[in-house]
Amino acid sequence: MGEPLEIDIITIFPVMLNCFLEESILKRAVEKGSVRIRTVNLRDFAKDARRSTDDRPYGGGPGMVMLPEPLLDAVTAVRKPSSRVILMTPQGRKFDQQIAGELALENHLIFICGNYEGIDERVKDELSADELSIGDYVLTNGGLASVVVVDAVVRLLPDVLGCDASTTEESFSAGLLEYPQYTRPPVFRGRKVPEILLSGNHEKIASWRKEQALIRTKEKRPDLLNRQDVQ
Ligand code: ADE
Repeated sequence: MGEPLEIDIITIFPVMLNCFLEESILKRAVEKGSVRIRTVNLRDFAKDARRSTDDRPYGGGPGMVMLPEPLLDAVTAVRKPSSRVILMTPQGRKFDQQIAGELALENHLIFICGNYEGIDERVKDELSADELSIGDYVLTNGGLASVVVVDAVVRLLPDVLGCDASTTEESFSAGLLEYPQYTRPPVFRGRKVPEILLSGNHEKIASWRKEQALIRTKEKRPDLLNRQDVQ
């Protein structure tokens, strides 16, 4: 296996994020050596006795703004020449499966997680970071958004999921939603598994699945059919 993808998440909530990162497939990915994930406590870079990471906004208004210096010092502490710095913000480019695939090819990702009303604008000017949003809504904490991105990226790394095909066949990878899946029993509360899936005819099963994926996509997400990457 190659070098693990390295991920540093700069946050004031390392304990909360570690809970998520230390379970399930992400935990296994770390144990297998596919990825190395570290949370960096922003408070360790605070300059005052109260370990402040934010202050009131110039010009007035509600909420607090994250101080530039602790954030930039935290980035400097972990940054390497090849690092890609990502700022989680609802103002960013909308995260999707294609971006997940791009990030999975990097060797070091640094996530900056904002809180409260936002981050001092000069952090963005200094870093020329990628700004990413996970959707058009505002969370209390960019840390949550960063673990969504980390999860989507890590599962694409080699050897993380049981079978490589599960990442390429699923929703969005071919530009379509996933076909319906069934497991045992063959009849459940009177509902039967489609006959074709029990037939053992792999060619017919593959074309049935493609057709079902198209039907589903037309029904639930017709917007995806207009994208150029649909095969
Ligand atoms: N921080 C707060 N809301 C967010 C969002 N929707 N995406 C990324 N970061 C955020």
